[in-house]
Amino acid sequence: MCGIVGYIGEGNAYNVLIGGLHRLEYRGYDSAGIALVDDNGKLNIYKTLGKVQALENFCKDKNVEARVGIAHTRWATHGEPSDCNAHPHYSEDGNLALVHNGTIENYKVLKDALVEHGRTFHSDTDTEVLVQLIEYIRVQNDCSLLDAVREALKQVVGAYAIAVIEKDNPDCIIAARKSSPLVVGVGDGEFYLASDASPFVEFTDNVVYIKDEEIALIRRGEPLKLLSFDNKENEIDVKKLEMSISQLEKGGYPHFMLKEIFEQPSTLLDCIRGRVVDKGRFVTLNGVNDNSETFINAKRIVIVACGTSWHSALIGKYLIQDMCKIPVVVEYASEFRYSNPVITHEDIVIAISQSGETADTLAAIKIARGMGAFVYGISNVVGSSIPRETHSGTYIHVGPEIGVASTKAFTGQVMVLTLLAMTIAGLKKTLEPRYAEKLGEWILKLPALVEKVIELAPDIERLSLIYTYARNFLYLGRGYSYPVALEGALKLKEISYIHAEGYPAAEMKHGPIALVDAEMPSVIVAPKDHLYDKIVSNVQQVKARGGNIIAIVTEGDTTIRNIADHVLEVPEVPECLTPIITSVPLQLLSYYIAINKGKDVDMPRNLAKSVTVE
Ligand code: AGP
Ligand code: GLU
Repeated sequence: MCGIVGYIGEGNAYNVLIGGLHRLEYRGYDSAGIALVDDNGKLNIYKTLGKVQALENFCKDKNVEARVGIAHTRWATHGEPSDCNAHPHYSEDGNLALVHNGTIENYKVLKDALVEHGRTFHSDTDTEVLVQLIEYIRVQNDCSLLDAVREALKQVVGAYAIAVIEKDNPDCIIAARKSSPLVVGVGDGEFYLASDASPFVEFTDNVVYIKDEEIALIRRGEPLKLLSFDNKENEIDVKKLEMSISQLEKGGYPHFMLKEIFEQPSTLLDCIRGRVVDKGRFVTLNGVNDNSETFINAKRIVIVACGTSWHSALIGKYLIQDMCKIPVVVEYASEFRYSNPVITHEDIVIAISQSGETADTLAAIKIARGMGAFVYGISNVVGSSIPRETHSGTYIHVGPEIGVASTKAFTGQVMVLTLLAMTIAGLKKTLEPRYAEKLGEWILKLPALVEKVIELAPDIERLSLIYTYARNFLYLGRGYSYPVALEGALKLKEISYIHAEGYPAAEMKHGPIALVDAEMPSVIVAPKDHLYDKIVSNVQQVKARGGNIIAIVTEGDTTIRNIADHVLEVPEVPECLTPIITSVPLQLLSYYIAINKGKDVDMPRNLAKSVTVE
C-alpha cells in the first residue's frame, strides 16, 4: 500500500530514489519523502504532502548530494496525510531514518511504553513508534543497529517492510519484511531496495526477494547478507528479473489504464501461450497437471480474493461448476479469514491476486494451509508473496499492471480460470472432448475478437459524454454476466467516483427496481446465452419504469436494440467466454467517463494498487 525505495553505491542516490518513487507511485500517493546521508555524515530528510512531483519540487533547492538514501510514497493507515506524517520518520536523537509499508497493530502499547520512558513523538503514525523503539533499544542495550532492529521487530505485531539508514554509518541500509513486499536489486558495486523491482529494472536484472521475517544487511562494497530473526545467515537466491523498462512506460498512451485496456489482445496471447496448443485441440495448465490427483479427488473448491480478483473468482465458480461438476464457494478473503472457516484436506483453496501481495488474501492462504487444504495461487507479479506461500499455482503473464483500476489482469485471471476449468475437466473427463476442442479453438480467436471490441472505443468515448454527470448507475447481468456487471460497477466507481451498484438482473424486482427512473442509468450485460430471454425481460422491466439503458449485446441483436437507449455490440462467443468480451466495453466506458470528469484514472483518490494492509 505504499512504495519504498532505497539505494547505496557510488552513484547519485537522489536520482535513483526519486525516479523509483515515480515508478511506485501507483502503490500509494498521498505524501512522499526522502532521507539522504551526505558524505559529510549529515542526514537530510525532506518530505511533503502530495504526490512525488511535490516532493521533487520541494527538493529543487535542497542539498540532495548523497550516495545512500531511502524514500517512500505513502498510503496512510495511521495518521492523516500530512507533511509531518509522511515518511521517512526519524529517531529522537536524529540519527536514524526509517520508511515503512504496512501497519503496526500494537503501536499504541509500544508508544505508551516509550512515552513512559520519556520519548516524545511528532507524528500520529504507527511508523514513528518503530524508529523510536529501535533507537530506544539501541541506547538501552548499547547494541548495534542491526541487533536493535531485530529486537524491535520481535516486539512488533503487524505487517511491515522497512528500510533504515543511520547518520553515523552511511555505508549501510538495513531492511526487513513481514507480509509486505521488499526486493533487493543487486547491481555492480551498488544495491537497490524497493517494494517491487520497477524502480531498478533499467539498472540490474539481478533480484533477491526478501522473505518474511528476514533482515537484509546491505553494505557498500560488501556482499548482501540475509539474516533470520535468530541471527542465522540465510541463503541468497539471486533470480533474473522478467520485466522490461518498456512495460513500465505509457508507450504514447495518455494513461496506463488505457494502455492496459488496449494491450489485452496481446496480453491474452501471452496468457494462453504454451497452454492452448495444437490449434486449440489441447488445453493444459501445468500447475493443475502436476497435481492431477489432488484436483481429481477434490470434494470442493474455495476461491478467496478481493476486489476485481473476487469478481474473476465468481466467474471461476461458474466455469468450474459448469465444466468440472465440483462445488465451488467464493469468499471475500477479508471475510473468510475471520469467519471461522471450515476447511479440510479434501478442499482445494484457490487464491487470486494480481499483485500477489494483498494482505487479506495472504492471510486467507495461511489459514487454509493451516487447516490442511491444498492451496493454489493465480497471480500476475512474478516472485510476489502469494506464489511463494501457495503449494502451486499459475502466473497470468499479462505484464506489470500499473493502473490502479485492474483491467488486463482481470481478463487474464478469467482466461487462466477458463484454462484451469478445462484442464480439470480433461482430467475428470467431465467435458465432451469435441466441445473441449471447439472451446480451445474459440480461445485462440479471443485476442482478435477483443481487438474488435476495442475498435468500439470512439463510440464509447462519444457515449460517455451523455453520462458524465450521472450520479448513480446500476450494472445488471445474469449467469456469467453477473460478475461482469459487478466488475463494471467497480471500474466506474473507483475511477470516476460515481456511485455504481452491480446486481443480479433477476434480483431487481426484489427491491432495487424501486431505484429505477430516468435519472438512474442502467448498464445491462446481455450477450446471447442460455439466459438471454430472461435478461430481455429484465431489460423490459427497467425500461417500463423509465430507466435509461446502455446494453452490451451480441452482434446482430435486434430485440434489445429496440428497447435500450444505447447498445454496444460485441462478437458472439461461447457463453463461458463472454466475460472476456463483455468486460472490455465496461472498462472503456468507465475510463472515458472518468476522463470527462477530469479524474486521475491511474491514481484515483484514496486507493492504491496493492492493498498490503488490512
Ligand atoms: C480493482 O480495480 C482494484 N484496484 C482492487 O479491487 C483490486 O482488484 C483488489 O485490491 C485486489 O488486488 P489483487 O488482485 O492485487 O489482490
Ligand atoms: N502505516 C504506515 C502509515 O500510515 C505506513 C502506511 C503505508 O504502508 O503506506 O504511515
